[in-house]
Amino acid sequence: MKKVIVLFLCFSLITSIFTGCATPGSTTGGKIDVGIVLPTKDESRWLADEAKFREIIKEKGYKAEIMYSQANSAVEKTNIESLIEKGIKVLVLCAFDATAAASAVEKAKAEGITIISYDRLIMDTSAVDYYVTFDSVAVGRAMGQYLVDQAKGKGNNLYLYSGALTDNNSFLFFQGQWEALQPKIADGTFIVRNSDKAQSYANIKDLTREQMSEIMSQVDTEWSMETSKTLAEAHLTANPPENKNVCYVLGPDDDTCRALSDTFRADADVKELIITGADGVAASIQYLIDGKQSMTVFKDPTMLVKDTMNLVDTILSGKKPEVNAQYNNNVIDVPSIQSDVVVVTRDNLKKVFFDTGYYDKNNYTGWENLK
Ligand code: BGC
Repeated sequence: MKKVIVLFLCFSLITSIFTGCATPGSTTGGKIDVGIVLPTKDESRWLADEAKFREIIKEKGYKAEIMYSQANSAVEKTNIESLIEKGIKVLVLCAFDATAAASAVEKAKAEGITIISYDRLIMDTSAVDYYVTFDSVAVGRAMGQYLVDQAKGKGNNLYLYSGALTDNNSFLFFQGQWEALQPKIADGTFIVRNSDKAQSYANIKDLTREQMSEIMSQVDTEWSMETSKTLAEAHLTANPPENKNVCYVLGPDDDTCRALSDTFRADADVKELIITGADGVAASIQYLIDGKQSMTVFKDPTMLVKDTMNLVDTILSGKKPEVNAQYNNNVIDVPSIQSDVVVVTRDNLKKVFFDTGYYDKNNYTGWENLK
């Protein structure tokens, strides 16, 4: 009996790997027009985007399927191949690894499928037709500027953390962050305590991608909460109490921010924490209310999903889409549609998230005294 159960479980596991984690409720079997492939269910951001995609798919009756690659380029490739088999006309891909995704989209493109790079730019290939994104440099700039605005006097402790190096967005965020922070590292307002590379480049305004990589490799969270915690623990152990006290921390997104916040606040030498995040995910709202996260940059998935599905409509109807930006992916300038972002702190949280009905305030506590 045990053997039978084990065999059954193995079979289910293998089938679920080969079906590429098609999510329940998606249209399966038969022909579909639009394939949407998201990077992983383990980062909150993509669950919010999936929910918005589902709303629009249902409302407009698209023949679409949503799949997850679970942070694995091989699964991503299998997902894309199975969507090609199902006859998709448009592929919406948020790549796990920007460069590794190139060969899979080239295959789809060769079948006449239109490729939309979603949120993350697919790099090093000409097989990308459109890119739908937030203004990621502005996201980074807002985070850096927030820390600058909170700093008092000279010699403030700065701890930098970056997104995964496999994600082009991490570089765009870092570019914006550096734009805001660099002059204040150069004039001694901040001292970077966890990256000697960043400190040594204090006088360089425009870093090359290589220089950014050097810094980011020292502080790469890989977009993982676990890695963020391990890194922060190592940085806190390596620094004496006087380098902690008041800490300014650049958390690259909300998930990593919460992990970093928990780790920094658990260190008895940390008396005050100013920490950034980005996305505006549900799990960070309580942290923002409680002051465990100082700000977030809200990237409303409603806008991105709407832009994407409008673009899909235009493509399917054979018309020429309008774009408002261009992003270079090392091979071509990709026609892009870019959305703005909103900075949220305790001062406008209620207005942005609760008054609009985006989140239900009854799921949170302590908001009564917010403006
Ligand atoms: C996205 C962020 C997200 C991060 C981790 C980035 O590419 O732009 O919104 O938090 O990936 O999933």
